[in-house]
Amino acid sequence: MRHLINALDLSVDDINQLITLAEAIIKDPEKYAKVCAGKILATCFYEPSTRTRLSFESAMIHLGGQVIGFSSEESSSASKGESVADTIRVISCYSDICAMRHPKEGAPLVASLHSSIPVINAGDGGHNHPTQTLTDLLTIKNLKGHLDHLTVGFCGDLKFGRTVHSLIGAMVRYPGVKFILISPEELKIPDYLRKDTLDANHIDYKEVNVLEDVLPELDLLYMTRVQRERFFNEEDYIRLKDSFILDRNKMKLAREDMLVLHPLPRVNEIATEIDDDPRAVYFKQVQYGVYIRMALIMTLLEVIPSC
Ligand code: CP
Repeated sequence: MRHLINALDLSVDDINQLITLAEAIIKDPEKYAKVCAGKILATCFYEPSTRTRLSFESAMIHLGGQVIGFSSEESSSASKGESVADTIRVISCYSDICAMRHPKEGAPLVASLHSSIPVINAGDGGHNHPTQTLTDLLTIKNLKGHLDHLTVGFCGDLKFGRTVHSLIGAMVRYPGVKFILISPEELKIPDYLRKDTLDANHIDYKEVNVLEDVLPELDLLYMTRVQRERFFNEEDYIRLKDSFILDRNKMKLAREDMLVLHPLPRVNEIATEIDDDPRAVYFKQVQYGVYIRMALIMTLLEVIPSC
């Protein structure tokens, strides 16, 4: 049985297969409308979510399956002290596959060790968010046409932003990818990512703190919000939260074909005045999230119809 805990659990071939399957779903959704009939997805979310939980549920429903789950720790028996290990043993009796979000890094991995059904990490603390990464890769592949030879700017909270950590880990495997990491000093990427991922793979990258200086170089700009819920100190959050605001004036510095992605939710870091700019693709990205999660559920449940 396979789980998805880290984007690196997937080889480049695995990712290409998921993207190909998602593209086939986009072309002919009817073909996949009943492949999960009789199957149940459990969404076990110990932390708030709009996109990830509801896109998983939408994905399963589009595949003809059904969904159960909880959307907060308070509404589950975790609030009475039940462990993740015991919870997943129980969930395994009720469902065929589980998507789990948890504030503690490593919790979905622990669940996978005690599970008799596939477990998908739907975000664990400030660590990883592999299905957002798959969403991002499908978006880039469809809107740029390729995943290699791209200069990607990551901007905002690169310390706590798990979507950034997962996407960097996945993209270093594509040739010719360069990164420009744009953040305040306090919100730079964690040391382990710099050492074990960027340096270890001899990736071309630089770290800067002025967005305007590097905008003309970018093929993609991946904006992120400052992650209030991971801060220990509200004063620090208030000081850093508006470090970068992408607006119409800044977009004038960017290439005509630069794409702006954001995992959402957005707070202030992208002015709504650029939502209608054709380069702003963060709401298209949301739609791709459903298709890639349909492809992932089918793959982990081994229910892909033959051609
Ligand atoms: N992108 C993302 O993870 O959004 P949610 O927190 O709403 O799931």
